[in-house]
Amino acid sequence: MKTLGFVAALLLMLAAVAFFVVARNTPDAVDFEDVDLDARVKQFLETHAWGGRGAANVPAVDGLTLHNIVLEKGYTRALEIGTSTGHSTVWIASALSKTGGKLITIEIDEGRHRQAVENIKAAGLSDLVDARLGNAHGIVPALEGPFDFVFSDADKGWYKSYLDALLPKLEVGGCYTTHNVGGLFSGWFSDSGDYMDYLNGLPNLETTVDSRGRGLSISYKVSE
Ligand SMILES: C[S@@+](CC[C@H](N)C(=O)[O-])C[C@H]1O[C@@H](n2cnc3c(N)ncnc32)[C@H](O)[C@@H]1O
Repeated sequence: MKTLGFVAALLLMLAAVAFFVVARNTPDAVDFEDVDLDARVKQFLETHAWGGRGAANVPAVDGLTLHNIVLEKGYTRALEIGTSTGHSTVWIASALSKTGGKLITIEIDEGRHRQAVENIKAAGLSDLVDARLGNAHGIVPALEGPFDFVFSDADKGWYKSYLDALLPKLEVGGCYTTHNVGGLFSGWFSDSGDYMDYLNGLPNLETTVDSRGRGLSISYKVSE
């Protein structure tokens, strides 16, 4: 009987921890009333919190951070690697609609790319987004640049190669962000340790990690 009680208490505790983890990673963590967003963008983000199985969209807290960086720094030439169904795309493009900028985003999966194009349209941002279907391994090194904002959120094993290809094309003062590094349970999605060591070792980047969502590294380029 005692053992049963102990197991029940343990399960209750685990459920409470799981609830806390899920709650801090859902769009509820952002009060949309406090964010100055276009009505169609707000409508999209509020009604599409769940992007579908396997979509792995950013939680709103990370989306809002990306949005605010672009807006506050006035960035206009943005690149996203890993569109999925376009949630982070909408957050970033929403900020670009205020700075007068444009975004290139790349996705390898045709179904998710198609859904993203629809979602971007629903949010009223099609004119600002060049959504490309294909393998970023080949597309990224061929991009001309320059960029002042990058969000890297595709295959984690290629993070370093994307960074190496893009750093020379990132303007001084620009920002390079990477998802799923160092947040709670980020190890479940990627082994980000080596990448973070590499990122932190680069002398022309100043890097911090925002761990409120799923671990977002934010690196400003301070010199060539
Ligand atoms: C974590 S999801 C991106 C989530 C998206 N940024 C969002 O918040 O809505 C990663 C996406 O990267 C895509 N991907 C993986 N490897 C890729 C590659 N080599 N080239 C382009 N896209 C890739 C996957 O198909 C997947 O949709």
